[in-house]
Order: sequence, then C-alpha cells, then structure tokens
Amino acid sequence: MSVDLPLPAFISLAGERFDVAAFTAADLDAIVALEQRSHPHPWSRENFRSSAGHHCCVGLQQGDSWVAYAVLSFVVGEAELLLFVVDKDWQGKGIGSRFLEALTQAAQAKAQTMFLEVRASNEHAIALYEKAGFNQVGLRPGYYPAGKGSRREDALLYALELPSPEM
Ligand SMILES: CC(C)(COP(=O)(O)OP(=O)(O)OC[C@H]1O[C@@H](n2cnc3c(N)ncnc32)[C@H](O)[C@@H]1OP(=O)(O)O)[C@@H](O)C(=O)NCCC(=O)NCCS
Repeated sequence: MSVDLPLPAFISLAGERFDVAAFTAADLDAIVALEQRSHPHPWSRENFRSSAGHHCCVGLQQGDSWVAYAVLSFVVGEAELLLFVVDKDWQGKGIGSRFLEALTQAAQAKAQTMFLEVRASNEHAIALYEKAGFNQVGLRPGYYPAGKGSRREDALLYALELPSPEM
C-alpha cells in the first residue's frame, strides 16, 4: 500500500520541467538500472519489490526517463527517508535539493519529524541533508556491512523537525 502525499505535479529547475510520479512494480527495470549506475551501494530488485508494496515510492521524470527517486516510510507521525538517489548524469545540478524540499514539505501532512541514515563517508549526501536543515541526532557504529576489502561503516542518523502544514 503506498502513502499518498500532497506533492506538486512537477518541479521546475533552470527552465526544465521534472514531473513528480509514483513508481510501481512496472517501473522496476528502469529504477533498478538507474540504481545500479547511480548509487554506490545499490538496493536490490527485491528491496524495491518489497518497498513498492509498503512504502511511498516516488520520483522525478523527464518524459519517460527517471531522473531521481525516493522511498519513504511513515509510522505514527514519523517519516523515514529510506532511499534518495539522483541519476548520475543529473547530479550536482540542484535536483536533489529541490526534490528533497518537495518531499519534506509534502511529508508535513503525515509526520512531525523526518529521519534518515547516511554513511559517514557520503560527504555529498551529508552536505545536501545539512543544507536542507537536517541535524545529526545519532550514530550507529559499524552499521553498514563492509564492501570487499573495506571495514564496516558507521551510520549517521539525521532528523528534521517538520512544521505543521499551513491551514
Ligand atoms: C546525494 C545526492 C542525492 C545529491 O543529489 P544532487 O542532485 O547531486 O544534489 P544537488 O545538486 O541538489 O546539491 C545539493 C548539495 O549537495 C552537496 N553536493 C552535491 N553534489 C556534490 C558534489 N559533487 N560535490 C560537492 N558537494 C555536492 C552540496 O552541498 C550541494 O549544495 P550546493 O550546490 O549549494 O553546494 C546524489 O549525489 C546521489 O544520488 N548520490 C548517490 C546516492 C546517494 O548517496 N544517496 C544518499 C544516500 S543516504
């Protein structure tokens, strides 16, 4: 069951239009391919398949192509950003910032706080989240499994207080 969020129909950035759309099982081939090439620690198809049934799965499209996507869960007033990825070719152009802003605004309708976890080495993502107002509220030592030849990595836990939606 997906969660309906009051997201805008599209986002405009530098004269380009990106449509906001839910992704479903029918989009998994495209999303998994994007995940493989854009995310250093990609989710598996099975991760996506199980999320599609339980979480809010939403992305940005240009025409038929996915440009960015996110997976959020909502539980009793708390939102968790489980996945947030911008296509490799579109990174560094402000899309992540605008998409995150749209998500946090829409999430105000369902939650008071948004949480996320990020690898301690993921400097770009940390910069993005801190710029969006997230504050570090915890650390999970050795939380992420090690890649080949590397050590387990710490997870930083971030939170953003969401203002009440305007009446
Ligand atoms: C992290 C990610 C979502 C950022 O998306 P993006 O569209 O590239 O981000 P933006 O262009 O909106 O940049 C937002 C801020 O992030 C930081 N940032 C993003 N890319 C950066 C880069 N290449 N170098 C330095 N800082 C960078 C900057 O602080 C930037 O703000 P600024 O432009 O005002 O300096 C994207 O790099 C990504 O998908 N990475 C792979 C997946 C991932 O790690 N997801 C997060 C998992 S928790």
